[in-house]
Amino acid sequence: MLAACSADTEKQIQDLTAQMTLEEKVDMLHGQTMFTSAGVERLGIAPVKYTDGPFGIREELEPHSWRPLGLTTDSATFFPTGSALAATWSEEMAYLYGKGMAEEARTRGKDMILGPAINIQRIPTGGRTYEYFSEDPLLSSRLAVGYVRGVQDNGAAACIKHYALNNQENNRGMVDVIVSDRAMREIYLPPFRAAVEEAGALGVMSAYNKVNGTWCAENEILLDKILRQEWGFRGMVISDWYGTHSTVQAALAGLDVEMPGNMFFGQALLDSVRNGAIPEEIIDRKVGNILRVRLAIDPVEETSHVNPVSTPEHGQMVYQIASRSIVLLKNEGSLLPLDLEKTPTIAVIGDNAIQKHATGGIGAGVKTRYEITPLEALEQKIGDRATLVYARGYKGFSRQDRERGGILGGVVLSGAGGMLTGSAAPGTGLDQEMLAQALEAAAGADMVLFFAGNNREVETEGADRMNIILPSLQDQLIREIATVNPNIVTVVVTGAPVDLSTVEPCSKAMLVSWFNGSEAGNALADVLLGTVVPSGKLPFTFPVRLEDSPAYALKTYPNFDKAPYSEDIYVGYRWFDAWKIEPLFPFGHGLSYTTFTYDSPRTGKETYRTSDVMTVSFRLSNTGKYPAREVVQLYVHRPGSNVEFPENELKAFKDVQLEPGKSAQVTLKVPASSLMYWNTSKGNWTLEPGTVELRIGSSSRDIRLKKSITLRGSN
Ligand code: BGC
Repeated sequence: MLAACSADTEKQIQDLTAQMTLEEKVDMLHGQTMFTSAGVERLGIAPVKYTDGPFGIREELEPHSWRPLGLTTDSATFFPTGSALAATWSEEMAYLYGKGMAEEARTRGKDMILGPAINIQRIPTGGRTYEYFSEDPLLSSRLAVGYVRGVQDNGAAACIKHYALNNQENNRGMVDVIVSDRAMREIYLPPFRAAVEEAGALGVMSAYNKVNGTWCAENEILLDKILRQEWGFRGMVISDWYGTHSTVQAALAGLDVEMPGNMFFGQALLDSVRNGAIPEEIIDRKVGNILRVRLAIDPVEETSHVNPVSTPEHGQMVYQIASRSIVLLKNEGSLLPLDLEKTPTIAVIGDNAIQKHATGGIGAGVKTRYEITPLEALEQKIGDRATLVYARGYKGFSRQDRERGGILGGVVLSGAGGMLTGSAAPGTGLDQEMLAQALEAAAGADMVLFFAGNNREVETEGADRMNIILPSLQDQLIREIATVNPNIVTVVVTGAPVDLSTVEPCSKAMLVSWFNGSEAGNALADVLLGTVVPSGKLPFTFPVRLEDSPAYALKTYPNFDKAPYSEDIYVGYRWFDAWKIEPLFPFGHGLSYTTFTYDSPRTGKETYRTSDVMTVSFRLSNTGKYPAREVVQLYVHRPGSNVEFPENELKAFKDVQLEPGKSAQVTLKVPASSLMYWNTSKGNWTLEPGTVELRIGSSSRDIRLKKSITLRGSN
């Protein structure tokens, strides 16, 4: 995989390290600027240059602050954010994404992309849900592998983050996650493991939080036992920004680079080696980990920074990913795709029709070269074939709102420290002028395209949402609109679950179009107009109510210093299935303009052993009128098992493109070993023998075929 792992490279690493002074070595182990760590010039070792990550190459900052330099040459392509990519359910799209990111990183002279961000979406309110992929470990793993391979096959290093269990933003710098070994191994670690073992990720970023009492940046179980010893990680571990808490403990546990600054891994580290608290051999090992990455990634000449970064090819890439990510939630009476002859006047209502999402909140953001909004794309693609009447309807939640304490879902925010806390707002209401304009537009139109959802001030790093209610009183607005025009198609622009229980009955058709990158508007307009047939599937559950989701049901969130993960392995749909709670839209859900039938399931064998790969074949037919893609999903269910298992667990998926009237034989492969569970008493992976029901379907709650096999004993 890595040339850097060859014997020659190891020899080169030893030779280089032997020529360094202790000071030179320690100098490599902390930030030199905000986004670089030092090399050793006299030995020809270039510094490591990092870039955020994960959905576009970040603009250049001043060397020692978060302030942008304000260059005109550093704009980049805005890639669809994590949950959008995840909705493609496509490792191939993730690869393309990684490739595009790497090409832009290299053009800007960067070595390591701080991404992908692959934490599990545990709570619907999580501030960074939009950056992360999924509530499911397998889906997250496949996308992580695709992304990392795409990056590293194209000359940059990927840094998977945030290792591990950084599943909330509120209090992320203090919170101690209390998690069982089983939940950690089966739910939270698999994406990291796959990215390391299968894709050879070169970088790992330790998370801000504690896990079972120990900071991630000094957690020997995570950094040494699991990451290096079990998974064989050979690259470098860097801290999250200002997420280092000690010198000796962090150094001994396995942190390689403190980022940024040198509070712990500068003079203090040097002193600790000199006074014998840390053996120099540990320092050599860290230098080796960095050199292994440095030797795998060619330094890029400074002069190349002036080359244009965001190319038309990258625009095509993000268009392709975005158009595969859009999820059709509902389509009553086949209102979509739009029939412009039947609906010559369309009212487009909502701030999200004109809102851009490349930046906002704090943290990850892209100074993008361009971003097409839905309204721009609709106007351009519809031209004079229909009349579009735009009304803003509501004012999108803004940074000033956040700072002042604005309205988020009918709740006034305190504005304290960016934490979304507050109380119900008596007497707050919709802007009457905007409401009147929206109603006038809706009343005079044949149909309404309502743009609901969040924006990047609502979903942000550093703060979770205090609820999942649509911001800016959108629920009130759509109720009013429905009284004058019931023909509503709602586009939900969001990176995370929102409460759609008011919007849903008011809408005949609904789509999720995510924070979908530079080409978001074009992709959405093409889906609305039927040039692209939707094939996205939800990477997470949309609950009816926030309180239906596990951490809220168990009241373990909100929390401050401790976060007990009491739902254990029952995260996301695993929880809803276990407690038979009906979600509004289930995990894996996503409709098409066509229809698919599934029949004739067959397994390769009746009985499988640990080392076998189970195969399941069936016929998939496109029985509708459109050429379309279906993401078929395979879940396993273990009837009568002595070990506790979730009702359904995703174990395979595949996308299949079919012309109308055509069928294809689809084969899904599931290594029997992937059915192993973490046996806490033995501290290992164990295969539980017994009957396994393979459930094949179009979503976790739309199972079309079932077939049982027998698993024979472990090992
Ligand atoms: C975030 C990381 C990010 C880093 C550098 C941190 O606050 O958690 O994801 O890569 O800042 O910007």
